[in-house]
Amino acid sequence: MSKEDRVPKSENPVQEIGAEGVVHQVFHDAYRESKAAWVTGRPQPAVMTALSRGWFDAGPLLDLGCGTGENAAAIAKERPELRVLAVDAVPQAVEHARTVMSAAALDERVRVEVGDLRAFEPSESFGTVLDAGVLHVFSDHDRTAYLEMVARAVLPEGTAIFIEFSDAETRPRGPRRLAREEICAALSEAGFTIDSIEPTRYETTAHPGGAAAWLVRAIR
Ligand SMILES: C[S@@+](CC[C@H](N)C(=O)[O-])C[C@H]1O[C@@H](n2cnc3c(N)ncnc32)[C@H](O)[C@@H]1O
Repeated sequence: MSKEDRVPKSENPVQEIGAEGVVHQVFHDAYRESKAAWVTGRPQPAVMTALSRGWFDAGPLLDLGCGTGENAAAIAKERPELRVLAVDAVPQAVEHARTVMSAAALDERVRVEVGDLRAFEPSESFGTVLDAGVLHVFSDHDRTAYLEMVARAVLPEGTAIFIEFSDAETRPRGPRRLAREEICAALSEAGFTIDSIEPTRYETTAHPGGAAAWLVRAIR
């Protein structure tokens, strides 16, 4: 267990998160206590927008920080040829995601694994990578290493889709808020070219109407 993981649980751990990122233990606590505000029981609408635009046509797909699996399941249902690897650090989330895949008879094509993305090295390359609400949890330090890993995971000319809280979201609760310039600079530094960046909403149970977010498509 790293030093960061031993930080005691704060009463309000997700307010005013800055360069230090979200304390990792928060995710384990949130699932255990059924307080994960991002678990809405359905795929993120921004993922469905990306899907309708054909952004997940190139496989295989890597879903990073897949949570309870609704995004990966929705994509796999619409793209019957797609193989998916979905990864999350929290075993409880992974167990839930596996039941979602079994219930939808997707477990042959969608593999769900426990993995800490701060120390993750994919064993294959992917046509598309999805990050719905993960980049914005990392510290500045972890973000750099994480994006370098994402860049290694994507096939040449492949794409990475990011959906992250934006600085237009001013309500309390939630992860870091990323400015357009910040997210673009971080992706460029990791070797991506920004194909498009647009305002979207990231649904949570804590932000009525969804939190202001960015939908980004980046090309390797
Ligand atoms: C905001 S939730 C998003 C979940 C899912 N992508 C969705 O949109 O429903 C962030 C997810 O990232 C996972 N996560 C956070 N830090 C992680 C890490 N270091 N390695 C792997 N997963 C991580 C959390 O457990 C959580 O499920």
